[in-house]
Amino acid sequence: MSILSICQWLQNESIGTSIRESLWTFPIIETVHLLALAFSVGIIVLVDLRLTGFAMKEQPVTEVFGRLQPMALKGFAINVVSGVLLFWSEPLKCYNSPYFRAKLIMLFVLGVNALLFSAKTYKSVASWDKAAVTPVPARMAGWVSLVFWAGVIIMGRAIAYVSS
Ligand code: HEM
Repeated sequence: MSILSICQWLQNESIGTSIRESLWTFPIIETVHLLALAFSVGIIVLVDLRLTGFAMKEQPVTEVFGRLQPMALKGFAINVVSGVLLFWSEPLKCYNSPYFRAKLIMLFVLGVNALLFSAKTYKSVASWDKAAVTPVPARMAGWVSLVFWAGVIIMGRAIAYVSS
C-alpha cells in the first residue's frame, strides 16, 4: 500500500471528512495547534537561547531545562495531536504540498537533534552547567533547533497556500 493510497483512503474516511466539512471544527483545531505552538516552540526557544548564550546566562542550564522542559513537552504533544487531526482532514492537500513534506523532514531533523543532545552532550552538563558560554556541541544543538523550528513554522504557514 503506497502513501498516496493511504492518503486517498483517509481523505474519504468519516472523521477527516467531518472535520473538513464542518464550519468550525477545522478553525478550532488550527487555533489549538497555534496556541500549543506558544507552549512548545515558544518555550523551546528560551532553552535554545540559554544554550546559544543569548539569554539567562547566569541561570544553570539544568535549572532552565528542569523548569521549562515539562511544559514544552506538553505543548508539543498537543501540537502533534492537533497536527495529526488537521492532516486527517486534508491528507491529499498535504501529500501534494512540498511545504508539508519539508515540515515533516524538519520535525525529523529536530527529533534527531534533540536525541543526540540528550544522549551525548547533556550527559556532561555537570561540567558546564553554570558556564555562560556552553560547549560547541551544545551551542550547535541550540542553533539547529532555533533555525529548524523557525522553518517548521514558516512551512506550516505555507501549507495553506498550496491547493491539491
Ligand atoms: C510542534 C510542531 C508543529 C508546529 C510548530 C507546527 C506549526 C504550524 C503552523 C504555524 C501552522 C499554520 C497555521 C495557520 O495557517 O494559521 C500549521 C498548520 C498545520 N500543521 Fe502544524 N505544526 C506542528 C506539528 C504538526 C504535525 C505533527 C502535523 C501533522 C502530522 C501538522 C500538520 C499541520 C497541518 C495539516 C496544518 C494546516 C495547514 C493548512 O492550513 O491547510 N503540524 N502548523
